[in-house]
Amino acid sequence: MTQSEVEKSIFAHSPLDAIAHAHAVQMQVCDAMERIADGLPDEVDRRLAAHVASCLHYDLPLHHRDEDEGLFPLLRARAEAADAIDTILDRLVAEHDLDTDFADEIAEPLDLLARGVKVANAEMVGYMLRGFFERYRRHVRWEDTLVMPLARLRLTSADLDQLARKMEQNRATTV
Ligand SMILES: [Fe+2]
Ligand SMILES: [Fe+2]
Repeated sequence: MTQSEVEKSIFAHSPLDAIAHAHAVQMQVCDAMERIADGLPDEVDRRLAAHVASCLHYDLPLHHRDEDEGLFPLLRARAEAADAIDTILDRLVAEHDLDTDFADEIAEPLDLLARGVKVANAEMVGYMLRGFFERYRRHVRWEDTLVMPLARLRLTSADLDQLARKMEQNRATTV
């Protein structure tokens, strides 16, 4: 089963499990980025670089849409004032914008590495990779610690149906 088939079968059943699964995959992608950064300039696994580049190009922006347009608005509507989740969600949305742009920039040298091209600025590429995966791990930990437990607590079954539909829609409109 491919990654997207796994996701599809999970999110029809439980969209929050699909998001949690995406977070686990993202942590693996961060580990892969660390291995690539450690291997620069000469010891880079080309298939790993291709896999990471593809995740950054396609999976990451899609996941950000699932959260920005699906999970977060539903959670804002359902959360109680004492949950104090709005500021946290504002910050996570701002990070999505930055990270989507940054992911595109990093995917470029990764595409070159995947084709076996030696990048001229290996040190800078390593620096960019490290900056990204260190920040992104923190982002996922925040979501897993603060957002996901609250979503499991507050979202109703109607909310979950709406989230699942939104996620299906996002996949149908992504080329
Ligand atoms: Fe996020
Ligand atoms: Fe996330």
